[in-house]
Amino acid sequence: MNQDQLKQLVGRAALDHVVPGEILGVGTGSTVDCFIDALAASGIAIPGAVSSSERSTQRLKQHGIPVLDAGEVRRLAVYIDGADEIDGRGFMVKGGGAALTREKIVADLAERFVCIADASKLVTTLGAFPLPVEIIPMAAAQLTRRFAALGGTARLRAGVVTDNGGQLLDVTGLAIADPLAFEAEVNQWPGVVTVGVFARHKAQVCLLGGADGVRTLRF
Ligand code: 5RP
Repeated sequence: MNQDQLKQLVGRAALDHVVPGEILGVGTGSTVDCFIDALAASGIAIPGAVSSSERSTQRLKQHGIPVLDAGEVRRLAVYIDGADEIDGRGFMVKGGGAALTREKIVADLAERFVCIADASKLVTTLGAFPLPVEIIPMAAAQLTRRFAALGGTARLRAGVVTDNGGQLLDVTGLAIADPLAFEAEVNQWPGVVTVGVFARHKAQVCLLGGADGVRTLRF
């Protein structure tokens, strides 16, 4: 199976985690696109979804799935999203699709984060994938120096403006041994809107698509 087929496989497998009758949190990315398509085809009745991006909102609406504002919802039972990396504890790097800020906001509403990914995303240590960080542009130079002090090289993602009108740094050269401590530290730096380490908002379940089918990891 190629990577696209694995994404479709885990997208379909995620249907088992949708709670009928409950509003669903929906992430962003090519794997989530497969999930949205599978959800629409499944006929599972949900009152609507809270979306983490304009991209997912558009796809949900195209399928006739109502999209609610995050402010209209106090709690979500489940949030389903992809990841750029996930480790054996459910800690993730996210934001390759530039949606990390809204993804963390929707994840914060949810009791359970179900990550859907192909097996290439499973890593021992986070950091090989360039770490996305949404920032306030005025802070870019100082934040670049701060990441350099941790051994990282930060580059502005050229030509990309987030759904919130923000900019992104992508940081290479990091090995994030303690994701909780790293996230807490970077969150303190002035000018950081969102760091793409999801440690406090880690996955509780990961559906990992590989040659042998879908493996369910619980954390
Ligand atoms: C978007 C994300 C995505 O979940 C992540 O980039 C994975 O995307 P894909 O499913 O296309 O591999 O964090 O901001």
